[in-house]
Amino acid sequence: MSSPLLDSLTTASKFFGITGSVFTVGTLLASGFLMEDDKGLLKPSGKRIGKIARWSAASWAAAAGFNILLTLANILDLPLRQVLDFQTLKSFVTQITLGQYMLFQLLVAIAISFLAPKLNRTGPITFLLLLTLLAIALPLFQSHSASDGSHALAVGSLIIHVLAISFWVGGIFALALLDENEKVLAVPRFSQLALWAAIAVVISGATNSWTRLNFLSAWHSAYAYVVIAKILLTLGLLYIGYQHRRNISLRLQSQMNWAKFAQLASIELSIMIIVLALGTWLSSNRPPLSIKDGKFDVAISVAGLPMPATPSLSRIFLLYNPDALFIGILVVAVALYIKGVAVLRKRGDSWPLSRKVSFFVGIVFIDWATSGGFGIYAHFAFSYHMIAHMILGMIAPIFIILSAPITLALRTLPQGRTPEERGVRGTFIAGLHSPLARFWVNPVVALLIFDGSLFVLYLTSLFGGMMQSQIGHFAMNLHFLLAGLLFFHVIIGVDPNPGKAPHLVRIVILFAAMSIHAFFSVALMSSTTLIDHGYFAQLQTPWVNDLLSDQRLGGSIGWAMGEIPILLALVATFILWVRDDAHEAKRIDRNTERMAAMGLPDELANYNTYLENLAQKDRKNE
Ligand code: HEM
Repeated sequence: MSSPLLDSLTTASKFFGITGSVFTVGTLLASGFLMEDDKGLLKPSGKRIGKIARWSAASWAAAAGFNILLTLANILDLPLRQVLDFQTLKSFVTQITLGQYMLFQLLVAIAISFLAPKLNRTGPITFLLLLTLLAIALPLFQSHSASDGSHALAVGSLIIHVLAISFWVGGIFALALLDENEKVLAVPRFSQLALWAAIAVVISGATNSWTRLNFLSAWHSAYAYVVIAKILLTLGLLYIGYQHRRNISLRLQSQMNWAKFAQLASIELSIMIIVLALGTWLSSNRPPLSIKDGKFDVAISVAGLPMPATPSLSRIFLLYNPDALFIGILVVAVALYIKGVAVLRKRGDSWPLSRKVSFFVGIVFIDWATSGGFGIYAHFAFSYHMIAHMILGMIAPIFIILSAPITLALRTLPQGRTPEERGVRGTFIAGLHSPLARFWVNPVVALLIFDGSLFVLYLTSLFGGMMQSQIGHFAMNLHFLLAGLLFFHVIIGVDPNPGKAPHLVRIVILFAAMSIHAFFSVALMSSTTLIDHGYFAQLQTPWVNDLLSDQRLGGSIGWAMGEIPILLALVATFILWVRDDAHEAKRIDRNTERMAAMGLPDELANYNTYLENLAQKDRKNE
């Protein structure tokens, strides 16, 4: 039983850790995105905020280090001084998943405190921001939310909650550091982001509360009272947010009241600090236990959700176990796509219905394979895992790629707010043309990621390990989706691709993908040992009689569901080739006619003359 002193120290240290990390997100967000830049170079004001990021990251690092000690003392139920032993600490941060994540967080905080003041481009600052968000999110995969009956919902909603808070609270903190001139550009851009973040905080907070307080007696607990206090304070924050938006909307008539903005922001930040403290208390104290919490359930402890009944068509279509993280990604993707189409419409441009439909079909397939029936059964049988894998890696990506999201982004992302500024659109284009992007869209690299990763995942102990942990399962599904999106973008993508390979190369790559995929599936279909390292065995799924034949079934499903999309892509590439050739021929014809009309020799004639000259030169040299 840990001491009350240790408990309060743990909560206090966790509070300073969260506050330091949130302020670090805010300062990096301000210098890398909210403030004006000069074609991607930070202006002196951006560099100034980068320097402040050093101090918030340093305080985060100090708290993160102390958190490791306190968490270890809590786990081992030992006084703090007894965990100050190098071996004990070393084994905690190297062998225990939570310890590894907390060490990663500490190292990232230290790295940022050194690097942030030295950087002078928005690109590296954005990279540090993403690293910070990852370091904040990782330990939450091991928080007490992970012991809930629906891991994916509890842990996922908590991660979205904390990341959204980082943007909302961190942004308000960073704005307080800016002078009025800097605020003129930063505030309107942040206002957009703050609205999305606030919505995400409320929905994820409510969802997380529901996963813990979904039985009546739970509401007679200190935990529930703190949640209620948070809700009331959040309503206050939303009201202040509304006042801000009203004030900001006056800026166009240059009637924005900066004094009122500063006053509101300081009240807002004070309330946020209080709510941060309440949130930290919640995450450091166990939520009320329901009767069902008492009973051990192997499916819940291993797969993170209750064992579903024998699969049937209706259950495949109707069962749903929300994977909050994937739903969060899909909601952001859908919101951005709708926003893009709305921007086009406002400009009087249209966007093909076929692309909108294709996009939503892709989104539905992804949701079906992660939170829907296939996503649920994929936790309990290899054959269903393979169906979900094929939907995420082969089917959904084709629909998303054919919806041309990159073209939509290029046509609708905001330009620079000032002549010097590169703007979101400029940064996106720079990213598309970057050496790293060119590396990824190389067809051989795309094929290696697409098919090579199959062998790395399934023919090593990786698969069993990834299935066991929630972060592993999430990362595996995300990999399937991203590898599929990359592969089909390279092969049949309708979006601009600076490294687009010639048709012949794409067809060769497709044939290679087909044969590698067939080879892998046949290897699985003739497998004699289980590849999941005991994951499915420990679940004792009542409707899977023989694990090996279910694994072999998975192989044949992989083959059937894998080859069809590749075959479709092959046909599509041939059609694209013929069509592009026809377009090229028409273009040359049009050019010939135009040149002829202007009495100028056309391209072809020019080229033939050039060849003729070459031949004559050769003949002379003989
Ligand atoms: C509708 C409003 C909100 C509700 C219902 C809500 C609910 C929750 C719940 C249930 C948790 C999980 C605690 C646990 O792990 O057991 C949580 C965590 C947290 N909340 Fe909220 N929250 C809300 C708004 C906010 C706001 C506005 C902030 C900050 C300004 C905030 C800051 C936090 C923090 C810092 C944590 C701890 C995260 C951690 O585990 O590290 N919450 N909240």
